[in-house]
Amino acid sequence: MTTTSTPFSGTFISFEGIDGAGKSTHIGALAAAFKAQGRAVTLTREPGGTPLAETLRTLVLNDSMDPLTEALLMFAARRDHLSCVILPALARGDVVLCDRFTDATFAYQGGGRGFDEAVLSQLETMVQGTAGLGATQLIQPELTVWFDLAPEEAAKRLAGARVPDKFESQPVEFFRRVADGYARRLIGEPGRFARINGGQTPQAVWDDVHAVFVAKGWLA
Ligand code: TYD
Repeated sequence: MTTTSTPFSGTFISFEGIDGAGKSTHIGALAAAFKAQGRAVTLTREPGGTPLAETLRTLVLNDSMDPLTEALLMFAARRDHLSCVILPALARGDVVLCDRFTDATFAYQGGGRGFDEAVLSQLETMVQGTAGLGATQLIQPELTVWFDLAPEEAAKRLAGARVPDKFESQPVEFFRRVADGYARRLIGEPGRFARINGGQTPQAVWDDVHAVFVAKGWLA
């Protein structure tokens, strides 16, 4: 099993969606399904996934800062995560299941905050480009599963669930712009995305997610 975007033997998969879209349960179930088939799984998340990146996560999800600082911290965390966790795992042949990756930066910082997407593209090239990473082309997930849910529905699901972080406490209009940001990424690279209707029952969402992995030949 090879990835299209790295010279490594593992499989890199990311999961995206607005807060409350319900991706977490399904990521856990996919990890179990891969392990049941004998695959080694690295389950990780962004921002985070390394001690340094988790420290940056705490800062970026709680402190207020200007938009460029926020974008730089997201990409700094990503660089550490890529070089210390994701690429070594792909080199071992693991399935890497990553709860959010760069599409989240384009959706939240680009769409939600309105930060210049051309600058984000430059940072993406710098951080996921080949320099120092042993790759020959921009490192991207082989598949990105986007749990697409109406912002109003996501807000209902999140209401009262827990103390919201900096992003979760944003108004519905922010999440509408985030969802538009995800849609732009999908249009730019349709072959990488599987768009899942997150408004269904959890079982129906799982059935759709599972079908994508079966169609890829990754799960029986
Ligand atoms: P999330 O992935 O939803 O984790 P949890 O389930 O613990 O809430 O939270 C991460 C938050 O960070 C989410 O609101 C989206 C935001 N985020 C960005 O704004 N930009 C990024 O590049 C990434 C990776 C996440």
